[in-house]
Amino acid sequence: MASKKASVKTSEVPGPKSAELGKLREQYISKAVGISHPIYLEKAEGSLFYDIDGNSFIDMGSGIGVLNVGSRPKEVVAAVKKQADKFLHVCFQVTPYESYLRVAEKLAKIAPHPGLVKSVLYNSGAEAVENSVKISRAYTKKPAAFSFVHSFHGRTMMALALTSKEMPYKANFGPLPETYKVEFPYCYRCPYGENCDSCGLACADKIDEQWSSPQFQGRVSSIIGEPIAGEGGFIVPPKDFYPKLTKICKKHGVVYVDDEIQTGAGRTGKMWAVQHWPGVEPDILVSGKGIGGGFPISATTGRVEIMDAPQTGGLGGTFGGNPVGCVAALAQFDLIEKSMSNVSKINGYITKRLKEMQSRFPLIGDIRGMGCMMALELVTDPKAKTPAAKETKAIRAAAMKRGMIMLTCGTYDNVIRLHPSMVMPDETLEQAMDILEASFEEVVKG
Ligand SMILES: Cc1ncc(COP(=O)(O)O)c(C=O)c1O
Repeated sequence: MASKKASVKTSEVPGPKSAELGKLREQYISKAVGISHPIYLEKAEGSLFYDIDGNSFIDMGSGIGVLNVGSRPKEVVAAVKKQADKFLHVCFQVTPYESYLRVAEKLAKIAPHPGLVKSVLYNSGAEAVENSVKISRAYTKKPAAFSFVHSFHGRTMMALALTSKEMPYKANFGPLPETYKVEFPYCYRCPYGENCDSCGLACADKIDEQWSSPQFQGRVSSIIGEPIAGEGGFIVPPKDFYPKLTKICKKHGVVYVDDEIQTGAGRTGKMWAVQHWPGVEPDILVSGKGIGGGFPISATTGRVEIMDAPQTGGLGGTFGGNPVGCVAALAQFDLIEKSMSNVSKINGYITKRLKEMQSRFPLIGDIRGMGCMMALELVTDPKAKTPAAKETKAIRAAAMKRGMIMLTCGTYDNVIRLHPSMVMPDETLEQAMDILEASFEEVVKG
């Protein structure tokens, strides 16, 4: 590794200025908004965050999987500044503009298969998810929407209904729209008790069975799935799962919605994670997060006949496909395409370091993920696989004090997730993994 070491420095974390703003937060912000790292930021550059107390941090969270080519890439900033001098908002449905069309054109050109042609643009991932259900229902004229156990699809009512985790996301917010869950292939904790080496993909067979049952036959409009269950714990399904699911969807006339909000935009080393599995052909792809380079923009992209099914005027929104977000996305897509070749190198280094750590710390039950999306599932007892939620949180806190922002996730709150940018310099990545190892040491020693 040849590049220059990042200047990471921390004294008191959170420092006095951040602590002062923390009081303002308590006074004026709802307690329902959780904050994992109470350090108030001054500036972000590439893979580094600088707080108002003079501390600096390596960013291994990417603002929850958004900053795929780092913070403030100069091409994105230049495009945004140029657009700011023209117009900030006009609403595409009132007076359209070219950049909206160009983003849709780009999404069609880079789609995982040529059938995905038409798009609608929105602001958030949840909004794109909501609309994928509306579009699927308008097309199929069927009601039932399916999703997976361990999934996360957003916080608006339908997206929340499709989401799996009760606490903290769903509790007390019902009644939610009616949706149905099927098991996700969480091989480390196989819901059908199968052995991975002889896995018969019972989880896919059960979906087929369920849709053939009198309750659901002819009633299912869509199933939404993340290629890798992100919030659920970076759960990677067996390579044959999605190809099999695609066939089952075709058999039952069900719209398969591929939620690439977290896995897309190059993060796994391909533009869309489903491209790792030949033969997987989603009917609708939802994207968000990383496509905007930090600006809120999201999309549903689908087959022409599906996307044209809703009545004219049925889709849209005041801010959807905002002109600043559109130019940011166009610049960001170019950078993603140039940076994806780095992903396998970053993944190789992280995987090597995580395996070394696993041999030192029995707390690490499972290592999994793809590309710049790698995770560790922590267990207090490797045989019983008892979730180590307390230790997971403690390691995240220790890493923050040592100068690294790193997120946790998982249905059982026991997964550390690493979300580096695709352009993180070698030595910064090495420092990040050193910090992670030192944080493990600190927590394991007690
Ligand atoms: C897979 C997936 N879908 C949907 C969403 C919701 O996106 P947003 O927070 O932009 O509404 C997220 C956010 O984390 C996500 O990871």
